[in-house]
Amino acid sequence: MNLYISGSNRKHNSYNFLKKIKEDEDVLYSLDDLNIKHCIGCNACQKNEENKCILNDDMKAIYDNIDKCNKIIIMSPIYMNHITGILKNVIDRFNPFRE
Ligand SMILES: Cc1cc2nc3c(=O)[nH]c(=O)nc-3n(C[C@H](O)[C@H](O)[C@H](O)COP(=O)(O)O)c2cc1C
Repeated sequence: MNLYISGSNRKHNSYNFLKKIKEDEDVLYSLDDLNIKHCIGCNACQKNEENKCILNDDMKAIYDNIDKCNKIIIMSPIYMNHITGILKNVIDRFNPFRE
């Protein structure tokens, strides 16, 4: 199973592209459906034994699938020459996996 993440604020180009290439068993999240807080830099995830983020929000669904998936495929529209803000929030929340 692969995890697909559309970093757009809407279900349009990025979402439709990922929907087209994903297999039936894969999981696709569109970040416009999820309520994800930004990392608060507490580093609790680096300090606790389970390396778990202490924030309680929809990032849990992504964390659960990261534990199960073979690959993560992320697509973002370009916003002002960058990835979208909501996608940057998600990538910052990968801090629990940082060595
Ligand atoms: C706020 C905003 C900023 C954007 N900035 C850029 C940009 O810097 N360069 C670019 O090529 N396209 C830019 N775009 C266009 C989007 O990247 C493009 O429309 C993209 O296909 C949208 O993807 P989506 O349909 O998955 O939301 C911007 C669009 C928005 C709404």
